[in-house]
Amino acid sequence: MGARRSRVGYRAAPLFMELLRFSVLLILAGLVRLDAEAYVVKLRRLCKFCDLQESTCAGTGSCTVECDITAICLEKEDVCVSIWRKKEDNVTFDTVCHNPARSLYGLVLDGYNNSKCEMKERKDMGSEFFICSCSEDECNETVFFNASKDSPVAVILVSLVPLLVVAVFVVTSFYGYRVYLQGQAGSGRKRGPLLDFGDAHGIMMDDGGSDSSSTHANNLNHNTELLPIELDAQVGKGRFAEVYRAKLKRGSSVGREQGFETVAVKIFSYEEYASWKSEKEIFSDADLRHDNVLHFLTAEERKVPRQYWLITAYHPRGNLQEYLIHHVVTWHDLWVLGGSLARGVAHLHSDHTTCGHYKVPIAHRDIKSSNILVKGDLTCCLCDFGLALRLDNTLSVDELANSGQVGTARYMAPEVLESRINLENIESFKQADVYSMALVLWEVISRCSAIGEVKEYEPPFGNLREHPCVESMKDSVIRDRGRPEVPNSWVNHTGIQTVCASIDECWDHDPEARLTAQCVAERFYDMEYLDKLSDSSDSEEKVPEEISVVDEKLSSTEALPPAGC
Ligand code: ADE
Repeated sequence: MGARRSRVGYRAAPLFMELLRFSVLLILAGLVRLDAEAYVVKLRRLCKFCDLQESTCAGTGSCTVECDITAICLEKEDVCVSIWRKKEDNVTFDTVCHNPARSLYGLVLDGYNNSKCEMKERKDMGSEFFICSCSEDECNETVFFNASKDSPVAVILVSLVPLLVVAVFVVTSFYGYRVYLQGQAGSGRKRGPLLDFGDAHGIMMDDGGSDSSSTHANNLNHNTELLPIELDAQVGKGRFAEVYRAKLKRGSSVGREQGFETVAVKIFSYEEYASWKSEKEIFSDADLRHDNVLHFLTAEERKVPRQYWLITAYHPRGNLQEYLIHHVVTWHDLWVLGGSLARGVAHLHSDHTTCGHYKVPIAHRDIKSSNILVKGDLTCCLCDFGLALRLDNTLSVDELANSGQVGTARYMAPEVLESRINLENIESFKQADVYSMALVLWEVISRCSAIGEVKEYEPPFGNLREHPCVESMKDSVIRDRGRPEVPNSWVNHTGIQTVCASIDECWDHDPEARLTAQCVAERFYDMEYLDKLSDSSDSEEKVPEEISVVDEKLSSTEALPPAGC
C-alpha cells in the first residue's frame, strides 16, 4: 500500500511541481510588474547618506563629500541634503535624504529644485552651519559654497551691483525724460501729462510686488524671507507673549489654489526680545526634537509692527490644564498622558539623543499643566521654554546663580522656593523639574475616572489663591510639609496606586531622593499590562474588590519596576 502510494506520488510529482513553478513564476511576474509600476509612479531619489562624517572641506569653493553610501530615499518627495558644520576645529558633513515639506533642524529647506547643491549659511545654529539641498540623484555629493563665505570685499561688491543697476536706471530715465521734454518743446507740441512716467513706474512696482509675494509663498526661505502666515485667533497668553492659531500658506502661485497648514505663532512684543531670544536658542537645538516636545518650525523678526515670532506645530486640544478642566480621563488616558509627559521631561534632561549622540541636557524650570499641550493621540508635549536652561557643563556656578529663582510659585520645589538649589550640581535643576512634574501627574489623577468619584478640576494646592506668592507657598510646602492630598480611595486601582507611589517619590522634600524623569517613564512603560487588568473602555467603573486585593500584593512586587529605578 505504502509502495503504491509512493509510486503514484512520484508520477504526480513532476506535474504538481510544474504547476507550482508556473504559479510561482506568475506571482513573481505580477510582483515585478507591480514593483515596476510603483517605481515608475514613485521614483525615489538616490542621495548620499552618511550622517556626521568628519571632513577636511574648508567651506569655500566646492567640496566633494567622502561618503560611500548611496541611499534610496524613503519618501518620493525626499531631496538630497548636505550640511557642513564647523565647531571649534572639527568639520563635519551630514548627508541625508529629507522631505522638504518638513523642517530639518528647525530650518525650512529652500532651493531644493536645483540640480546643484549650493550651500547657504544659517546663523544661530550654535556653530558655523551651511546647508544645501537639491533634486538630482546623488547631487549632494559635491557641494558649492556661495560668495557669502568669500572675502568681505566680494560680498560688498556683490551687494553693490543692484544699487548700481538702480542708479544707472534712474539717471538714464531722468536724462531720457529731459530729452523727451526738450523734444516736445522743440516740436511745438503740447506737453503730455507728467503722470505717464509715474504711472508706468507704479504699475511696474505693483507687478513686482505681486510677483515677489508669489515667489515668497513658493520658496519658504528661513533666512531672508518671512513665511507667508495669516494669523487667525488668539489661543493663549503667557507672561511674555501671546499665542495665535495661524495659517501657513503653501504652494501658492498665480492661478494655483493655495493650500495651508495650521501652525501656532507665539508673538513677543518688541520689549520682550530677550524672552524670544532665549526661547529661540533653546528651540534651535536640533537635539531637542522629540515626540513629547513641541515641534518648532522657525523664528522670525517681523518689522511692521515690530514683533518677534516663534512658529511651532499647532495642537487644537490646547493645554493640559484646559483639557483636564473640560474632560474626565480614563485610566488608559492617564497612562498615555503621564507616560508621555515623563518621556518628554526625560528627553529634555537627558545628555544623549535617542541615537546615542551627546546632547546638552535642558531644565525646563516652569513645568505646569498649562505649559503642556495635549496632542491628538492624547500624548503630551512640553512647550514654553522661555525659562529653560541649557545645562552646559561649561556654565559656571555664578552663571547658574544669576539665572535666579524662576518658575511659577505654585509648582516650585521647596529648594527653589527657598533659593537653596545646589548650583554645584546640574542634577539639582532636573530634580526641581521632577517635583513640578509630580504635581502635574497628581492633577491628571485627580480627574481620572478610575479613582471613583471625580471632583471638578482644581490645581495643586487649590486651597490657595489664584496666583499664590512664594511666601505662601513656602508656608504650605516647607513649613507645613504640605503636598496635594492623595485620598485612600485613589489607591484602589493598581495603576493609580503605582503612579501615586512614583509621585510620592518625585515630590520628596529631599531633591536627591527624587526619582528621575527617565525612571518615571520606565515605570509607566512597565505598567502597560495593567491596562489589560482594568477595563480601559469604561474606566468609570471601579476595579472590583478581588483585583484590589491582588493589587495590594502587586504593589510590593510586580507593580514596581526593577531595582535601581
Ligand atoms: N497654546 C500654546 N501653544 C499652543 C500650540 N502650539 N497649539 C495649541 N495651543 C497652544
